[in-house]
Amino acid sequence: MLIDPKSFDRFNMILTGVVVPRPIAFVSTISTEGVVNLAPYSFFNAMAYNPPTLIFSSSRRAAGWQDKRKDTLTNIEETGEYVVNVVVDDIAAAMNATAAEYPADVSEFDIAGLTEAPGEIVQAPRVAESPVNMECRLMQVVNIGEQPHAHGLVIGEIVRMHVRDDILYEGPNGLRINHAALRPTGRLAGNMYCHTDDVYELIRPVYAPPVAEAAGERAAD
Ligand SMILES: Cc1cc2nc3c(=O)[nH]c(=O)nc-3n(C[C@H](O)[C@H](O)[C@H](O)COP(=O)(O)O)c2cc1C
Repeated sequence: MLIDPKSFDRFNMILTGVVVPRPIAFVSTISTEGVVNLAPYSFFNAMAYNPPTLIFSSSRRAAGWQDKRKDTLTNIEETGEYVVNVVVDDIAAAMNATAAEYPADVSEFDIAGLTEAPGEIVQAPRVAESPVNMECRLMQVVNIGEQPHAHGLVIGEIVRMHVRDDILYEGPNGLRINHAALRPTGRLAGNMYCHTDDVYELIRPVYAPPVAEAAGERAAD
């Protein structure tokens, strides 16, 4: 089948069905009125090490609503700060509970029964039950598309990272993340998710660089 994204009915389900599995950013923010907000975003990834950069993308309008904006994007544009909490299997159901389009004066921490922990640098709270919290400062929002499908691509720098000790182990070259202990949740399309405990190793081939370049740092990506 050959698909033209412009004319295919509900192309979004095809796209999110093939870009899988996606990690989930559980984004906590605080509004200028002091209301705490929490929501999941799976158009999400890490994009650079220096500065350490995360991106995620939010539609501007809440699904099924004519003029309701998504609180996460509004709060980030108004405060310039947020926390990305990693979604793991233990909190997947709680994450899902926060994903309805609740009014702006509702805290999804209360709805999901999750606990706020203070950030060290940003005002937005961390999710205490998540083993990894990344405090972020907004670099820029890139506007993509137009209404009704307009998105804001949020680009932010990690200014502090909290990692629970029990998901770390001492590897031959320093501390590494133990994925069996982390148990990150992957998102497929729609309401489908996956566990990430069926892992295997592939050793990457090396094509030796010329001697002059060999002294440089090896790529880690
Ligand atoms: C696992 C999951 C991933 C999601 N990813 C996105 C996303 O990448 N972009 C988006 O705009 N909405 C996404 N949503 C929907 C938002 O979480 C939902 O609209 C939420 O109510 C927004 O809350 P807010 O208005 O408090 O920011 C996702 C929902 C779920 C359950």
